[in-house]
Amino acid sequence: MRHLFSLRWFGLITSSSNALYTDLSGYYDLMCADINYESQSHCIRRLHQLFGNQGKRHLDLACGTGPHIRHFIDTGFMSNGLDLNQPMLDQAKLRCPEAEFSLQNMCNFVVDQPYDLITCFLYSIHYSGSIENLTACIRSAHAALKEGGVFCFNTVEKGLINNNSFVRHSVEQDGSHFVFQSGWFYEGEGDKQALKLSIEKTTNKVTEEWHDNHPMVAITFDELKGLLEPYFEVTVFEHDYEKLELWNTQSGNAIFVCVKR
Ligand SMILES: C[S@@+](CC[C@H](N)C(=O)[O-])C[C@H]1O[C@@H](n2cnc3c(N)ncnc32)[C@H](O)[C@@H]1O
Repeated sequence: MRHLFSLRWFGLITSSSNALYTDLSGYYDLMCADINYESQSHCIRRLHQLFGNQGKRHLDLACGTGPHIRHFIDTGFMSNGLDLNQPMLDQAKLRCPEAEFSLQNMCNFVVDQPYDLITCFLYSIHYSGSIENLTACIRSAHAALKEGGVFCFNTVEKGLINNNSFVRHSVEQDGSHFVFQSGWFYEGEGDKQALKLSIEKTTNKVTEEWHDNHPMVAITFDELKGLLEPYFEVTVFEHDYEKLELWNTQSGNAIFVCVKR
């Protein structure tokens, strides 16, 4: 037997979908079970050592349930998080009681004290949704950094999105079998792309499915550099957290390292 639901968890949540959202924020860490958060955090710490001001104040934008923050704190950073969704922040606070979490939109955020490092992982910068909001996010990050501070994030180039490519993995938990799938969709023109997500949960031969399209901003790396360069000196790296290699100008995924001007 199959039941279909629509998924609304990262975007703005209405009170009518809170129950569903709460359910799904509980599944978030399962969905990300195959992500090596430690290696991602280590790589960005190395980039900060190479490019940054050696300070330890760190803010993670769109921090979700706080997995990166945990690793940064464990290696000596004073890390805080910011996200648009309170259920994700509630889980982040359980994981990182030492950190402070702020319910804000990354496209228009303010901080009490400036930071040395601001990160945004898992392509979440694309949640800014439009070029205008992305520009506002870049301005907010610039204003929130100390002199010589670094803004690091990963991103996808819209011209190189393959609509037929998906990441899929499965996990067993508490007697249920979960299959998670995600992939980009870009129509080929304009500044909108979608992240297509689906979850299948099978318990006692009954399968529930959730499907969703998250609207995101689509941009080329050249356009993105153009938005960043008035505020930052930009260096682009290959999207490989195990090696630090400069972007080869062909790959469609990259890590942007932006040093405050
Ligand atoms: C794919 S999750 C990434 C979470 C975490 N960074 C990670 O790597 O696991 C995306 C996160 O972005 C948050 N988000 C979406 N739009 C946002 C916005 N405009 N401002 C702040 N957070 C936002 C969602 O609530 C969600 O927690």
